[in-house]
Amino acid sequence: MLPRRDFIRRAAGAAALLGMPFQRAEQILCTQSVPLPPGDLLSSDPARYWAGLRAQWLLAQDHINLNCGSVGCSPLPVLSAMIDHILSAEEYREPAYPWFGYEENDRLHALRDSLASYLHVNRDELALVRNATEANNVVVNGLDLKPGDEVLLTDQEHPGGRCPWEQKAARFGVKLNTVVLPKPPASAEEIVERFQNALTPKTRVVFFSHITTVTGVVLPAKEICALARSRGVLLQVDGAHAIGQIPLDLHDIGCDFYATSPHEWLMAPKGTGTLYIRDERLKDLWVNIATANWNNYDMKAYRFSWFGTSNLSVMVGLKAALDFHQQLGPDTPAFMSSHRKYVNGSRAIRNFPSPMRAPTVFTAVSSPSSRIRGKESSTSSL
Ligand SMILES: Cc1ncc(COP(=O)(O)O)c(C=O)c1O
Repeated sequence: MLPRRDFIRRAAGAAALLGMPFQRAEQILCTQSVPLPPGDLLSSDPARYWAGLRAQWLLAQDHINLNCGSVGCSPLPVLSAMIDHILSAEEYREPAYPWFGYEENDRLHALRDSLASYLHVNRDELALVRNATEANNVVVNGLDLKPGDEVLLTDQEHPGGRCPWEQKAARFGVKLNTVVLPKPPASAEEIVERFQNALTPKTRVVFFSHITTVTGVVLPAKEICALARSRGVLLQVDGAHAIGQIPLDLHDIGCDFYATSPHEWLMAPKGTGTLYIRDERLKDLWVNIATANWNNYDMKAYRFSWFGTSNLSVMVGLKAALDFHQQLGPDTPAFMSSHRKYVNGSRAIRNFPSPMRAPTVFTAVSSPSSRIRGKESSTSSL
């Protein structure tokens, strides 16, 4: 970390050169001194804990943000890392070019290591892209399918996942079949059964969102993957909402492809995405954007991160977001649900309509009495 005088120098530089108010530049670039509240405050004095944590964001004081879908608000350590990189990169002191989109430099290597350990995959199975939409497109446009091949997707897919398949159908005669998800589902089994009934001998790919975009249901990903794999079908999961919101073990889930948008619930800089490609599938995909190394299979998943000059500073911010997220504690879901409990418990929030409530979690577990977790995760049950 840079000494404070260097931060102030950069803040002054940012203020002068970018026309940024000095106060804001200093606020962003001199945040080392704003410590996180101690973790034990969360149980002893949650109001103080959350007030202390809130100081990590620039969010306007009269604004409460309950939705990190589409984009989350990045905390100061993330902004600081990203903006400091924008400024320091212009000194051209680092041996590698300050870019992303070509060869992997040390920063990207370290980022992929951290992400791989967070997502429980191998670094070589992880491509850095710019969002989940791009990751979904890499998969859909990269797969060879022939007319008459079928793809099964749900009726609740975001356009960033559904439309690549619609285009594929229009161009190549692939047939799309739809699983209608019950609203609300009675059980995880009910969801899996619907997938089972919709599979045909011609189904080549099953595609679904891990957390649905409108209703916030967490689908039983592992069970759906196990079902489809037993039929030799490829599994593509859209995890735009999942990263940062629920713990992820992609090897355990058993999918072939998994897309994320860390700028949502991981609160990373806007324009950061990841794509997991199971090792055995790395040679099955064409790249969407071809430049050098388009067919260099030795590069493994990083082949899909060669798409021309792009912004390294947001990737530096993504690493900071991951570090920040992990600094909050190993039990992120507890963090998220505590947060919901706290905000939902306040009078101002209690009357918000249901889409503002916590996601409903459907996941199959062994005990029959607790097959559905979070069934009633509305304001009243939190
Ligand atoms: C399930 C799902 N997929 C894809 C997207 C698109 O995300 P992005 O714009 O980051 O690509 C979203 C956005 O919220 C989403 O909810």
